[in-house]
Amino acid sequence: MRNLALGEPSANLPKNILINLKKKIEVLRFGYTESIGTVELRKKVSIHYKQHYDVDVSMENVAITAGASAGIFMSLLSLFEKGSLIAITRPGYPAYKNMIKALGLRAYYIDTSAVNNFQLTTDLIENLPNNIKGIIISSPSNPCGSIISDNEIFNILNICKSKNIKVISDEIYHRVEYQNKKLNTAFNFDKNSIVINSFSKYFLMTGYRLGWIIGDKGFINQIRNLSMNFYLSPSSISQYVANEVFNYYDYFDSIVLKYLENRNYLISKLQSMGISDIIVPEGAFYLYVNISKFNNNSYDFCSRMVNDIGVTLAPGIDFDDKHGNSYVRFSYSCEKIVLEESLNLIKKWL
Ligand SMILES: Cc1ncc(COP(=O)(O)O)c(C=O)c1O
Repeated sequence: MRNLALGEPSANLPKNILINLKKKIEVLRFGYTESIGTVELRKKVSIHYKQHYDVDVSMENVAITAGASAGIFMSLLSLFEKGSLIAITRPGYPAYKNMIKALGLRAYYIDTSAVNNFQLTTDLIENLPNNIKGIIISSPSNPCGSIISDNEIFNILNICKSKNIKVISDEIYHRVEYQNKKLNTAFNFDKNSIVINSFSKYFLMTGYRLGWIIGDKGFINQIRNLSMNFYLSPSSISQYVANEVFNYYDYFDSIVLKYLENRNYLISKLQSMGISDIIVPEGAFYLYVNISKFNNNSYDFCSRMVNDIGVTLAPGIDFDDKHGNSYVRFSYSCEKIVLEESLNLIKKWL
């Protein structure tokens, strides 16, 4: 089975981190920590923000969470009254709508288009109805890898402020970016926005289940109470590992370069199959591809592919229940050889 469906890096952490962990596991006891994470890790996250975004984030602005997933869930729970309308893009990360529903909130779908790389624009935000209470912004996005430029995000945040819309900025794919200039964090433009991030993607720690939230001190205190009752504390062993990753930016950047190589290879290979209408991802490790000339049912397309040649892709219908049947999502965070083998099989199969 060749898996191009999972949103998970195949690379492991730097060897030294793993060696240290092995040694420490025999001598340390990993108990509960503060419910919003250790002081040491929160301080490291705040330094990360100073170094990489040139923004002052104190450790009181940081909560370590059980992945971005718990960060998004607790933020939605703490910010909004039951029944509130929360805007999300279509296509978008499927868990947003599921969490919104599970919490008794209501999703308002913003239909984005291929013309705008399936991303938010100021026009789309300006046209939002007045009863929207919150919005989840995702840049680089899943499933398209498209970004919102700094300029545009600045305008979007301003419009949201004037409309009293609370912004949750999901920045989980930050630093998995392919432009020369790195993206800025929403917190740099507006200290009222809530930022979600994670150790899962750039830092390769998916299974360690660790993320973080940046927000004002009052909000972080609410998260402190929520997480204490929800899961007591994020995993202490994972926090121990996370303390070390900030010494290895060069290593993680080198993995991003491999994704870029994979991205370019994937695009050229698809073009050789006659699929030329491609939105080139500027970040994350996904390519959202229109397959309507082969099949109008993305689920059927993907299940036939897995049955016939053992290659898995994610069906577009998972990300967009309106137009998603015309699309599939490739994940190219795998080893190049897996991508090469899969594409050779797909080429013969199509
Ligand atoms: C856009 C987006 N947000 C959040 C998550 C959740 O990530 P995690 O809980 O592993 O930090 C994912 C996972 O794929 C994602 O794609």
